[in-house]
Amino acid sequence: MSLLDIEGISVSFRTDQGRVLAVRGLSLSVAPNEVVGVVGESGSGKSVSALSILGLLPRGRSEISGAIRFEGENILGWPERRLRKLRGGAIAMVFQEPMTSLNPVLSIGWQIGEVLRLHRGLARHEARREAVELLRVVGLPDPEGMIEAYPHQLSGGQRQRVMIAIALAGRPRLLIADEPTTALDVTIQAQILDLLRALQARFGMAMLLITHDLGVMAEMAARVVVMYGGEKVEEAPTARLFASPRHPYTAGLLGAIPRLSPERRDALVEIPGTVPVVHAPPAGCIFAPRCARADERCRSVPPSFAWQAPGVGVACHHPLGEG
Ligand SMILES: Nc1ncnc2c1ncn2[C@@H]1O[C@H](COP(=O)(O)OP(=O)(O)OP(=O)(O)O)[C@@H](O)[C@H]1O
Ligand SMILES: [Mg+2]
Repeated sequence: MSLLDIEGISVSFRTDQGRVLAVRGLSLSVAPNEVVGVVGESGSGKSVSALSILGLLPRGRSEISGAIRFEGENILGWPERRLRKLRGGAIAMVFQEPMTSLNPVLSIGWQIGEVLRLHRGLARHEARREAVELLRVVGLPDPEGMIEAYPHQLSGGQRQRVMIAIALAGRPRLLIADEPTTALDVTIQAQILDLLRALQARFGMAMLLITHDLGVMAEMAARVVVMYGGEKVEEAPTARLFASPRHPYTAGLLGAIPRLSPERRDALVEIPGTVPVVHAPPAGCIFAPRCARADERCRSVPPSFAWQAPGVGVACHHPLGEG
């Protein structure tokens, strides 16, 4: 059974420029212990999808439909009080910028302790001991001293380790990591990814890992969901996706990976154009304006997502690797 089942969610926002359709008909599932990656360019709807899971979209300005099942229960539309018990507990989240998620006026120990008291019911002294242990687990130096520290005294990498400790404090069964390393230096990025991978295995958490970095995806995720313009355009086991992408967009993204050998560094291929901001359902395929394979049908009939093989699906009239 799945741990998380997102079933056909659509999300729109009311803005001064009119309605923005940020996510359309997205379905994806995460099994217990599994690492699923979500990849796509800026604006493709990755963060909005993640925020939807925990009911963190701006209330009153956003609309959501579909179903989001966690351990079999539809949590979409749960009242705030119930969701708050889930957040930081069974489902934890790590964001891109740890400084904005940490409270600058509260000590690290207090912020971890709050989760331990709230979600695990630990008493003060127990919470302190456990907080020190968690800081050790995430590889921070001098955990005893660290719990007295404030966020501004830490480096970016250390702050992200603290955020991970806070996430772990609630013993989550699902960790949602939205660009957890984007704001960090390259060497620190690798360390944080290694840490996440080790913790995922050690604690048996499932992880929904959002990134625009395909290299990260290749190393971390068993399965990848590719998003474009608010839609899922392809899904496949990671090795399969890299070996034979079906959607022209995925193929474009793969072509856009910088070559690893130094002499090929300049070979970064961008897909011409940008992800559109969608105000109304498009007439045809959302990717058609940027697609070399697009024909009249693509411009008039939206392709629906279809499974081609177990776990391999694509939304395209002319997928690659056919015929
Ligand atoms: N609060 C909001 N109000 C209005 N529009 C929004 C809001 N949040 C997101 N959007 C729009 O929804 C679309 C998807 O945004 P989202 O943040 O999910 O993209 P993303 O895939 O996470 O991109 P990035 O890689 O830059 O993080 C974008 O067009 C964005 O402008
Ligand atoms: Mg985002």
